[in-house]
Amino acid sequence: MCGIVGYIGYEQAGPFLLEGLQTLEYRGYDSAGVCLNDGSELIVKKAKGKLKVLRELTNEGNDLKGTVGIGHTRWATHGEPSDVNAHPHLSESGRFAVVHNGIIENYQQLKDSLTAKGIEFRSKTDTEVIAQLIEYYYKGDLVDTIIKVLGRLDGSYALGVISQENPDEIIAVRKESPLIIGLGENENYLASDVTAILARTRTIYRLENDEIAILSRDGVKIINTDKDPVEKQTETVDWDVNAAKKGGYEHFMFKEIMEQPKAISDTIAPRIRDGRVVLDEIGLSAEELKKFNKINILACGSAYHVGVVAKYIFEKMLRIPVEADLASEFRYRDPIINDKTLTIVISQSGETADTKEAMKEAQRRGSHVISVVNVVGSAIAAESDDVIYTWAGPEIAVATTKAYSTQLAVIYLMALYFGDMLGTIVPDEYKALVNELEQLPEKIEAVLENKERIQYLASKFFNSRDVFFIGRNIDYALSLEGSLKLKEISYIHSEAYAAGELKHGTISLIEEGTPVIALATHEELIGKIVSNIEEVKTRGANVMCIACDTHKELEGIGETVFIPKVCDMLLPSLAVIPLQLFAYYVASLKGCDIDQPRNLAKSVTVE
Ligand code: F6R
Repeated sequence: MCGIVGYIGYEQAGPFLLEGLQTLEYRGYDSAGVCLNDGSELIVKKAKGKLKVLRELTNEGNDLKGTVGIGHTRWATHGEPSDVNAHPHLSESGRFAVVHNGIIENYQQLKDSLTAKGIEFRSKTDTEVIAQLIEYYYKGDLVDTIIKVLGRLDGSYALGVISQENPDEIIAVRKESPLIIGLGENENYLASDVTAILARTRTIYRLENDEIAILSRDGVKIINTDKDPVEKQTETVDWDVNAAKKGGYEHFMFKEIMEQPKAISDTIAPRIRDGRVVLDEIGLSAEELKKFNKINILACGSAYHVGVVAKYIFEKMLRIPVEADLASEFRYRDPIINDKTLTIVISQSGETADTKEAMKEAQRRGSHVISVVNVVGSAIAAESDDVIYTWAGPEIAVATTKAYSTQLAVIYLMALYFGDMLGTIVPDEYKALVNELEQLPEKIEAVLENKERIQYLASKFFNSRDVFFIGRNIDYALSLEGSLKLKEISYIHSEAYAAGELKHGTISLIEEGTPVIALATHEELIGKIVSNIEEVKTRGANVMCIACDTHKELEGIGETVFIPKVCDMLLPSLAVIPLQLFAYYVASLKGCDIDQPRNLAKSVTVE
């Protein structure tokens, strides 16, 4: 969603602010802006639409004067996307400027009370109340003022504040929304996301709730809301700077699809030692594990789809009931969960508001939480009882691919690790599965090599209005992801259906030429899915089928794409590749904005 960047140093801040905002584009936004202190006043430039509008307006930032500044990409919540609603927001006299990620829940009361005092608001945003409150309370000390203002705010925030009177400071503070301070030489940076400063520094502070950072050119001071100094350790970010660049590919999404063998290998390899899965991150003994009578999986979107795959795998291999729950639903339905429930929370960003809140709800009810997270140090990682990181590296495209795949890889590792501890997997099966898991990256390479075939099929289907995805068991779980990938980036309506459910309603939508993508990889149910394919074909469907190369008889059932045969548990990792590529090529043929689909944000930090 929204992104923050800030700079204080001896260089002109404009070009860096624009560069930083560009690296944050992937988060999803609909307007952007910057504010610099030019030595005598605060100068704001902001514009609705893509960053290119702001770049043109400011000559790539070169027309902006000042060595201290803040910038923002906004994803509209309160007030439509417009120039005036874009951040930064100034106080009435223009002496204070604020950028803000998050939501101020009591903004309307605050606005009403300030309006009653004669203060005039320019925008419809919740953020403007912060700038106006700062001016209202200001008596000469900006930090004191901000502390006072924080006491009046309900909700979540990451804030960057600069003032006209003090061209030598940026003040930053956060609550429930991430904020990072980057340390340079004679310059320091502010960012909501590490990718914005990766090209300049690897040394960061990660602010915790209610910590206030005072950035100057020569240092950063961190205090709490009582103004006591906070001792913090710096962290070194080891993400490769090139990982956040396109590296010759046209789109991040395609690059990230192609990176999957490496991402999976990075996630699996360090956790398999001498033929055994070792998850040192999990602090549960076999006795503690045996005490759980249920597993509860919480996530949103694609991460939830991983949870649905996990339900099939865990129930089969661990013989424990598993519930995969949409995080946004879980917390409002008085869930039945206690200390006998093991909760697994899945999130690429580690900041998804619904997932984070659902996790807290599970913890409040006594459940032990293991999180599966990609972004190191994110809120979910920090607040869960144990965290297993997916080593996917930065994922920039809004539509997840490599994070989804590495989350699946962690599910396989957990199934083997827990199965071994619980004694539900026999040694021979365990050995064979570990062996196959180690070969997974190579098999994915082989599927990626077949990309031209998928490109050809995309050219046959890209004009469709509706597409149906069908499958049974794990293939159904995967069809949910295939359908989401297609609709989110190509804007083609699609539905995922458990193939056995078709006859209970959906089949009435199948008519001459309706595309149906049938997943037919699950060995035990091949006969059943073939019958479902025949049913839709009889009604005129145009079928594309994904099957294992051990079932060559499916060659003529439709336009069939073969993947190498692996054990059932690992099939989703191979079968998802043609689905990702299909969505990508269809969106590309339709000329869609693949990396930043309309209305979507990478990290959904509001409910
Ligand atoms: C879809 C997609 C989203 C995310 C969802 C959860 O391609 O990326 O559905 O999976 O918003 O995000 P995280 O994993 O960051 O919690």
